[in-house]
Amino acid sequence: MANEKILSSQIVPIPEAGRVLVFDSGMGGLTVAQELMARAPNVAVDYAADTGFFPYGDKSDEALRARLPDIAERLVAEACPDVFVIACNTASTLALDEVRARLSIPVVGTVPAIKPAALESRTGTIGLLATPGTIRRQYTADLISEFARDITVILHGSIELVRLAEAYAAGEPYDAAGFAAAQRPLFEAEGAADLDIIVLACTHFPLVREQLAAAAPYPVRYIDSGGAIARQTLRILSRQSGSFSPNKRSSGRVFLSGEPAGSARLIKVSRRFGFNDIIVIDGSAGEESLRGHI
Ligand code: DGL
Repeated sequence: MANEKILSSQIVPIPEAGRVLVFDSGMGGLTVAQELMARAPNVAVDYAADTGFFPYGDKSDEALRARLPDIAERLVAEACPDVFVIACNTASTLALDEVRARLSIPVVGTVPAIKPAALESRTGTIGLLATPGTIRRQYTADLISEFARDITVILHGSIELVRLAEAYAAGEPYDAAGFAAAQRPLFEAEGAADLDIIVLACTHFPLVREQLAAAAPYPVRYIDSGGAIARQTLRILSRQSGSFSPNKRSSGRVFLSGEPAGSARLIKVSRRFGFNDIIVIDGSAGEESLRGHI
């Protein structure tokens, strides 16, 4: 597993302090926050979920482009992080540049792990499981032509799997058949008999990695970008040493843009990941952003 192994054997410096805000549409980014917290206990990690606009994967490009720089700016003003992590493939593959242009701090994006998958595949056939938005992006097509030109890439987008992952993680009733259904098009595509790696190109999907593996018609490896994003964030923070945000508030905050009632799942699951201070911001433009702790 060439690239990922090389990366994981590299020594990534652990910064002595710093604050990171990890952002996603919903609870998927918690899988990235977890990778970060496991590697760097000294770093304060807060979380933000755009629950008022969830899910991103079936929204139009125009709607997301209009929303992302504004919500990112608003969240950074509230949380005062040293690094902003967009732990969402759907958002990063569309508007990473626009968000970077708006913020004055470093922004780490999430890129589908096509490069490591292409390097590690023994058969030369990989699958890409993502949201419909990520599947149709030019950014994704460019990654495939840059890193997977000589291999077969089977793509499938599923918004149902995003919802299923949230229901499963929250301990709500869910349709177990959905795990097979969501990846069936990958296994039934032409050439799928050779499929050996599936890239989980939505940060929600590692929440149900074992369920996907159990529902697969034959064994494949599932890989994601969580570890690579965590390492990249720590590299950037380490370079900022000595110039961290003076914000001394404790970590473990969760910023939500949706109504608390509609965000109940997110609140429940984020508590399980260690985020206990729930703060609701107003997701609509032009209004007072901080509405309060609940
Ligand atoms: N977790 C997000 C991603 O990585 C998307 C989920 C959604 O559709 O909102 O793409």
